[in-house]
Amino acid sequence: MNHDFTFGGHKSSAHIEAKTPRLGRIFSDMEAERAVIVCDRNTAPLAGEIAGGGAEIFALPDGEAAKNWQSVETVLRAVAGAGLGKDGLFVAVGGGVVSDICGFAASVYKRGAALAIVSTTLLGMADAALGGKTGFDLFDIKNFAGTFYPARHIYMPLDALRTLPPREWRSGLAEIIKTTVLDGSLYENETRKRLLALSPALSVAPDDACIDGAAALVGMAVRVKGDIVQKDPLETGDERALLNLGHTFGHALESAAGLGSLSHGEAVAWGMARAAELGVKLGITPQARAETIHDVLTELGYETRAPHPALADQEAFMWALADAKKKKAAGLRFVGPCGNGARVITPGLDGLKLAGEIAGLS
Ligand code: GLY
Repeated sequence: MNHDFTFGGHKSSAHIEAKTPRLGRIFSDMEAERAVIVCDRNTAPLAGEIAGGGAEIFALPDGEAAKNWQSVETVLRAVAGAGLGKDGLFVAVGGGVVSDICGFAASVYKRGAALAIVSTTLLGMADAALGGKTGFDLFDIKNFAGTFYPARHIYMPLDALRTLPPREWRSGLAEIIKTTVLDGSLYENETRKRLLALSPALSVAPDDACIDGAAALVGMAVRVKGDIVQKDPLETGDERALLNLGHTFGHALESAAGLGSLSHGEAVAWGMARAAELGVKLGITPQARAETIHDVLTELGYETRAPHPALADQEAFMWALADAKKKKAAGLRFVGPCGNGARVITPGLDGLKLAGEIAGLS
């Protein structure tokens, strides 16, 4: 299934397909003849299959710890060493870390080289690969530096999900749940059943029903996110900011727990529970909506209690929240679930204190 979008004048197509594409197909879609592939150690074998000997491959270390400037420099040095010209193609093969680093490197290489992504995780498919955000962590702050640089083609091969570990499924599913809050479908029984049907993949391994269910949910997430990003590609308005539901609390938790110690989705799930609580407190989120969000997250095994057990360093949490505040002159911004969607909340001068209380800090 193809989904075509235009983000700020740039065409971007997402392909949800059964099988991983080979380089010939990517060359033909991208109208390119030379490429480098950036992957991590996990996806290196897959990158080898995709390349079939037709491209140089650079593997980054695995995980969030590799989402740093050193990785960007390694990629740029390697690509320059390979002699890739301005007409060369960067292909990211992996999850959000690989696509963020490779995307950033492509966006600055010779002032912008062509980019394709083969997204191999549920999180990448449901969120990270689509919409053009690239970047890396700096000064212990997540995504401190980055660019907007949409990939022209994004491949979402379902066969990659078959070997994805449960923790990765859990991480990606949180972003899917976020999308169902944004379009209000979480409050329909049918959607909740479809989410809960992915439970086997969260604990043991995905069966065929999980793969089919994930394909439908990824399709939904891609449509919802793509429509939002088309309206506000550079997050200059409030529209794209809605995709940050659960992220103000979640990013602060990720930073405070030590980047990489919690998965992004685990932190976002906890952040969504907090955002719903904050929304209730501020009269934006109906109590029943907050309860549904909390119940679905709990049923799927996410940590929703406050304080989060990994939140040992309360000062670091408040520091990360304060950094989020600095990003907008108007003060700290959250996204709160409302009737059938969400809206941006600016709790004003007391926002930081209130957020600390909602996070369960003493
Ligand atoms: N992950 C949120 C966004 O792409 O805007």
